Amino acid sequence: MKNKLPIAILVSGSGTNLQAIIDSIEAGRLSTEIKIVISNKPEAMALERCKKHSIKSAVYNNEEEMMKAIKESGAELICLAGFMKILSPKFVLAFKGKIINIHPSLLPSFPGLHAQRRAFEYGAKVTGCTVHFVDEKLDHGPIIIQVAVPVRGDDTEESLTQRILKEEHKIYPEAIRLFAEGKIKIKGRRVLIVGEK
Ligand code: GRF
Repeated sequence: MKNKLPIAILVSGSGTNLQAIIDSIEAGRLSTEIKIVISNKPEAMALERCKKHSIKSAVYNNEEEMMKAIKESGAELICLAGFMKILSPKFVLAFKGKIINIHPSLLPSFPGLHAQRRAFEYGAKVTGCTVHFVDEKLDHGPIIIQVAVPVRGDDTEESLTQRILKEEHKIYPEAIRLFAEGKIKIKGRRVLIVGEK
């Protein structure tokens, strides 16, 4: 058995991306171990998912406490999964190149909040989702995987959001797998996937 990459996951809400990661691990598709899930919101549904799968979780609103808990957990990758708080440059620097995020648009289009609604209202014909490294700027770091999702004439904001979410659940575990298997090389803004057939 290969060594499992220890990861930490930061959440704020329903945690469907967390669930997709848990499912991939349990199905044997992802060789990682979730050391800790941290929420900044005590009511987050994601915390219920942790209980159900016996995953250690904690609630912190303070970044120093969060950093301490992550360091103590031994996590080598931090996955933001619907984490609705902007991390300080200090935090980003402390885990440089080891924080990834999922965003529900094709970056650099529609960074920030309500990306699906904004793409829908803008009249974009194609939107999607992006897994990227986190740097000091919002939704900005090097892109690991993107998937396009067409906007249909009969879409509502909700139906579009759901179709994007379905793709998020595929690409997030996949990006973590590539990282865990050492197949990601960062060259400036470009992420190269190496050693994949
Ligand atoms: C997702 O759409 C993700 O892209 C965004 O927040 C949402 C989180 O959903 N960053 P969930 O908590 O994983 O269900």
